[in-house]
Amino acid sequence: MASFTVIGGTASENLGRKLASKLNSKYIGTELRIFPDGESKITLKDKPRGRIIVVQSVYPPVDSNLVRALAVISEARRYSSHVYAVIPYLGYARQDRQFLPGEIVTISLVAKMIKAAGATRIIVVDIHSMIALKLFQIPAKNVSAIQELVKYFKRLKLRDPLVISPDMGGIQRARNFARLLGVDYIALEKHRDRKTGKVIVKQGNHKEVRGRDLILVDDMISTGSSIMKAAQYLKRHKCGKIYATCTHALLIGDAEKKIKQAGVTKIVSTNTIPGKTGIVDVSSLIAKAIV
Ligand code: R5P
Repeated sequence: MASFTVIGGTASENLGRKLASKLNSKYIGTELRIFPDGESKITLKDKPRGRIIVVQSVYPPVDSNLVRALAVISEARRYSSHVYAVIPYLGYARQDRQFLPGEIVTISLVAKMIKAAGATRIIVVDIHSMIALKLFQIPAKNVSAIQELVKYFKRLKLRDPLVISPDMGGIQRARNFARLLGVDYIALEKHRDRKTGKVIVKQGNHKEVRGRDLILVDDMISTGSSIMKAAQYLKRHKCGKIYATCTHALLIGDAEKKIKQAGVTKIVSTNTIPGKTGIVDVSSLIAKAIV
């Protein structure tokens, strides 16, 4: 196996360390100073050797974490002609098409920047859509965390569980999750106002949820509106416990509180974004995608 050095950006230190240990590789941390004008000053704590893996998720502050990822990638390229950009949560991936006239497809610029910085490969985890992945002009791999999330739920004693996608766009994800868990799935109909961001769930008659424990599955939770509205709707149908699970829990502002108040018992996410819900580790999956 090729020898690797893993460099952990400040947004993904723990995950970077775990990945280095899975790959039996050297780990190098980075030091971040933020200047009074807001600029990031990054220093590598040691010299990398061999193939280099840079791990840095791009979650809030998104633009700063993106620039920090680019800076580390470009420094890594000075030491190696093999630089793997591991960006477990790739901010901007939702901006993969023009929804309203004049909107800029910013993920396309991000893809160009990551290559221009010096990355020779990119690995992401549960990217919002494959459209974004196809914009990279370097080998790009998406790793799915679903099997790891399912392992967590297999350990719980759930009452006649049913997997639910909060929207039709996530039906494939819910189907995969349900298949691995060995249960059924359904999808709700969610509508989001493209201008205001307001979310509504189409009212219907979902008698099948009555008395059953539910697992709401999404790729990410940002403001929490999608999960909150889905949970409120399902509670009205007299379901059992509701769990919410996703790969990337951004949980902006009071999202967690909103979700809990809507009746969700627990939020379970992965460590692509550090935080108290990020209890499912994806380092083994990433390691497998690299070797
Ligand atoms: C949308 O298509 C995504 O899959 C998520 O459902 C959405 O991004 C979650 O955002 P929020 O938590 O702000 O509703």
